Order: sequence, then C-alpha cells, then structure tokens
Amino acid sequence: MLLCIALALSVLPAPRQFVCRDGFVRNPSVTVSRDATLPAEGYRLEVSSNGVEIAAADDAGAFYAVQTLKQLGAREGSGLTLPVVEIEDAPRFGWRGVLHDDVNNFFGKEAVKRLIDLMAAYKFNRLMWHLTGSKGYSVLALGKYPTFFVPKPGRSSRYTEEDVREVVAYARARHVEVVGELEMPAHSPLPKAFPEITCDGKGGSLCAGNEETYRVIEGVLDELIRLFPFEYFHIGGDEFFTRDTWKKCPKCRALMEREGLKDTKELQNRFQSRIFDYLASKGRKGIGWDELLDATNLTSSAAVMGWRSDEVNRKAVARGHACVMCRPYLDYPQGIPGDPYEYPKWSYAYARWTLERCYAFDPAAGVPKAALGRILGGQCANWSGTTETAEALDWKMWPRQCAVAEALWTDAGRKDWGDFLRRLKTHVERLRSQGVNCAPLGL
Ligand code: ACM
Ligand code: ZN
Repeated sequence: MLLCIALALSVLPAPRQFVCRDGFVRNPSVTVSRDATLPAEGYRLEVSSNGVEIAAADDAGAFYAVQTLKQLGAREGSGLTLPVVEIEDAPRFGWRGVLHDDVNNFFGKEAVKRLIDLMAAYKFNRLMWHLTGSKGYSVLALGKYPTFFVPKPGRSSRYTEEDVREVVAYARARHVEVVGELEMPAHSPLPKAFPEITCDGKGGSLCAGNEETYRVIEGVLDELIRLFPFEYFHIGGDEFFTRDTWKKCPKCRALMEREGLKDTKELQNRFQSRIFDYLASKGRKGIGWDELLDATNLTSSAAVMGWRSDEVNRKAVARGHACVMCRPYLDYPQGIPGDPYEYPKWSYAYARWTLERCYAFDPAAGVPKAALGRILGGQCANWSGTTETAEALDWKMWPRQCAVAEALWTDAGRKDWGDFLRRLKTHVERLRSQGVNCAPLGL
C-alpha cells in the first residue's frame, strides 16, 4: 500500500482526482474507450485486477492517460507493475506552452524533438518555435524566398522547409501544436530580406504606407502558414522602439493623414491589424505581443500574448481579446546560489524566476469570472540570447518547466507547493537518468 501511494502520489502535473486502492497489478492488458461526456484532453484511468481501462473524449485525453501510466509504472525486467488506482483528470488551460528560441542560439532538430518528448510527458501542448526575429535574424530557409534566411553573422545553421514539416509532424503525433511566428515590424527579418519595402529603401523600418509591403508580407505568410498548420500564428508587435522613423517617411505620413491616425502607435496597430485581418481571411487566428494594447485601434480578431506584466491579462480580456500569458522567462536567474549557468551580466535580482515563482504563475489571476473564457492559457519562454549550450538550456528549463506544467494543468485549488516539491524530487531523478542536465531545486 505504501509503495502504491508513493507511486500514485508522484504524478506530475497533479491530477484532478485520484483514489489509491490497495495492491498492484503486473503486466495488465489496456483497453481504451471513448466517453464524450469527459472534457477535452481529459481522461479517466482505472487500474484494477481486470487490467487498465482508459476512457477519453479525444485522442489527446487518451494520450495523457498513457503519460500518467508511464509515471505510475515501475519496470522490473520485462515486466510492468502498476498500482491499483482510479484517476479522473483534465487540464485547467487549453494552451500549455513552451517558447523555444533557435534564432539567438541554434540548438538543432534533435534538440527540438527531445524537448517535444519531455513537454508531452508533462502534458504541455504548444511549442512556440522562435525561428525568425530577435534583431532581425531568421534561421528559416524558404525555397521561394531565398533572402529570407538571415542568420547571425558568421553562422550558417538553418532549418529547411522539410525540417519544419518533420518537426511539426513529430509534435502533432505527441499532441503538441507548433506555433509559427513572423515578428514584425520590430525584430523582423523582413527589412534585411526585402529592403525595397522599408521606408528608406535600405533595410530600415518596414514601410507601413507602401502597398508593396503588404503584398510581400502576405506572400511570405502564405508560405509560413502552409508550414505551420496550427490555428494560431504569431506576428510579433513587441519592442518597436524606432517607430517614430515613420514620421520621416512621406508614404507613412500620408497614410496617417488619410486615416486620421493620431500617432505612430496607432499607425503600428493599423499596420498590425491589417496583418491580423489577412490571417483571418486565410482562416487563421493571429496572436501578438501585448504592446499592441498600448493603442486603442487593434482589430478585435487579434489575440494578445502578455509578457510585460502580470496584469496585462485583465487589460486584454477587458478589451475583448483572447489572451495567452507568456510570463516565466526561464532565461532569467532561478536564484540558485553560485549558479554556474547564470548569465554573468544579469544584475537585477527582481527579475528572478525562482522555482516557487514559476509554480505560483497563474494566467487567470485577477480576471473576472465572466471573462475567464478569454484566457487561453500560458507559457514559459526560453529566450536563448544568454543561453549558449544545450547543457545550459536544460538547466534553465528543468525543473522549472515542471512547475509551469503544474501551474497550467492543475486546477488552482489543487495546487500545493509542499506536495509539488515532494513529488518533484522523483522527477528530478528521472530527468537526470534520461540525461537531462536538471538544476537542483534551489531552495
Ligand atoms: C519579448 O520578450 N520581447 C516578447
Ligand atoms: Zn514608410
């Protein structure tokens, strides 16, 4: 009984309900059935002397039941022993994401697939794959647009369209959707790739007042949305600090005057809204960073990804936008004394994302009940500008991503920091035994 409870209590993220009975079964048969009354991605799992019975409303639910079984099982030789349990489970949020950055440092296809496997084991289901952006680079080679591949100086690593299709299929087989992205107008590879659509004609700001700009962007988007079939596509919108260069451009100024736009923030949102509307015309939903809320004329079809503060979720939903909170930045220090992988130039202690702060992450915090449906979920970000090696990336992701997994899957009322820490110890051991360079708990 004690071992049974220990195994059952090791499940992470914590399930909605479970009951542990006395006893074990060895090498049980497994049956899977449909139950349309269960919630999306949810499952019911019964292990008894009759075998393992899984019921789920969809394939994802059955997949998650198997992930739970893998955590429950103990292997002895060729045999599998499972504790007798009954579990009912379903996620709190439908968007449980991880952002992986191959632009600032390139980790390669096998690293992405390994990350997808680990994500699936902890019931994450969205991989935002950063291939274009961050100072205007792109590691994505598009056959139709050869200038779109804009690597950092001295680098040659790239993903081909074939690589992307392979990763997207690998992810889908594990119920992870890959979120594609084309950052604009800032952090965009577009000005370097297509200088003819910038205000100065030399690769400066993308010209919002030139019709040709939209034609080029729409052509590139057509290619990208073929590669990234998920319903949401990310179009950036953050950190456009050179926005006022638009004031010097006759075409941009003319557009502002024609449409009565009072400042360049409104011009940015007019530009960005046009891209959101284009995606909508192709049956896709656009999502962009929360700076888009700084002006008031954003198209209502836009979904917002919050990153600058905990409160932006309230602003987004109050204005009718769907919202994903991308808050734990795992490139930030985790508060481990003498952390060998901490970027030496980090100086601001307030920006720490400790394990406990990651666990407390709540994308719906402070959102009125009536607007909760507009909170799609959350994700953590692994920007790699200060993360140069695969070992450092592992260390920053794990075990903090276990905390994020539980924050996004487990109902708020079921979360328990002490209980999580106890379960986490088992998972740190398991991750290390799989070769993951998992950080200590930092407590
Ligand atoms: C961001 O970190 N600039 C979204
Ligand atoms: Zn212009």
